[in-house]
Amino acid sequence: TEPKNIGELIQKAETTHTLSKEEIVALLIDTQYEEEFFAAADRVRKAYVGDEVHLRGLIEFSNICKQNCLYCGLRRDNKNVKRYRLKPDEIVDFAAKAKSYGYRTVVLQSGEDDCFDTETMVCLIRKIKELDLAITLSVGEKSRAVYEKYRDAGADRYLLRIETTDKELYEKLDPGMSWDNRARCLRDLKELGFELGTGSMVGLPGQTVESLADDILFFKEIDADMLGIGPFIPNPDTPLAGESGGTFEMSTKVVAMLRLLMPDINIPATTAMESLNPRGRVLALQRGANVVMPNVTEGEYRQMYLLYPGKICINDTPAHCRSCITGKIQGIGRKVSETHGFRVKRA
Ligand code: SAM
Ligand code: SF4
Ligand code: FES
Repeated sequence: TEPKNIGELIQKAETTHTLSKEEIVALLIDTQYEEEFFAAADRVRKAYVGDEVHLRGLIEFSNICKQNCLYCGLRRDNKNVKRYRLKPDEIVDFAAKAKSYGYRTVVLQSGEDDCFDTETMVCLIRKIKELDLAITLSVGEKSRAVYEKYRDAGADRYLLRIETTDKELYEKLDPGMSWDNRARCLRDLKELGFELGTGSMVGLPGQTVESLADDILFFKEIDADMLGIGPFIPNPDTPLAGESGGTFEMSTKVVAMLRLLMPDINIPATTAMESLNPRGRVLALQRGANVVMPNVTEGEYRQMYLLYPGKICINDTPAHCRSCITGKIQGIGRKVSETHGFRVKRA
């Protein structure tokens, strides 16, 4: 069949929010109409989620992990990491500080650390809820029953990237883990009423543009409420040290595509984007994103949660990051939201 011209595809995406896999691929590989494509995503962002940027205070509370994902600096076989685990009281203290900086959400993220058993997590969630903060958890794969307990304790959202929808590639990169179980987790979380966050890495070794298009269609199919997209950045302390990694351009193209196809969802401008490009988060905010997740831990923990080299903010204080990111957001004519920043369904 005759290929549609790229201008028509951009218009179709902007007005109908639907594209076929072939059309998604054509837009992702195009380099001639990038500016038009990004501008369309920015218009849809403004029309559906407005100029407000939601800030989520990120607490990386443990870098201990029983898994061995080939791309990740926290993998259990990486002996060059000094491991840490915050105490529940310390986590609550960081949450209270996050609140004092004006954040309305905290994201609790860690490796798959079994020492945080269900009871500990439930207690922690309850205590943080008393601060009137929205809570996002990002602590990996659990049973439906455990997710249900987190929800009953007050957790609002859950972040679990599918990483790639190419099942064979996933199982090669995450040895001992099952793609089907990860997808099961996502469906359970959605059914239990969490706001569902997922996403993928861009530029994994062996990943194709077709596979990125499949990711995008998968996100639409499971009706994700938020999507975290970032480039894969090779870590020298992992088996993927020698790989070339993803590009900033392709990562923001995926962001723009998601804004066009899922206009009312929340999309973070991710830390990994800024680690590749000094203006990465601002550019992502201008290509479809509407969320930033500044780190709120202090001191040495930041250096120890090193997924990949070049991670930003590892020597900065939370107060500095708060004013830095506010400046960047205001610098492009946007404003910091004062709401909890839940998805407002409009599609
Ligand atoms: N352990 C939980 C999990 O895997 O879902 C949460 C923490 S994990 C460190 C958070 C995310 O970091 C992963 O979903 C993955 O997409 C990302 N990540 C890990 N290594 C990375 C790398 N080398 N480059 C870019 N992103 C990476
Ligand atoms: Fe562990 Fe998550 Fe890193 Fe995999 S991506 S090694 S589960 S922290
Ligand atoms: Fe941390 Fe800019 S957000 S230094």
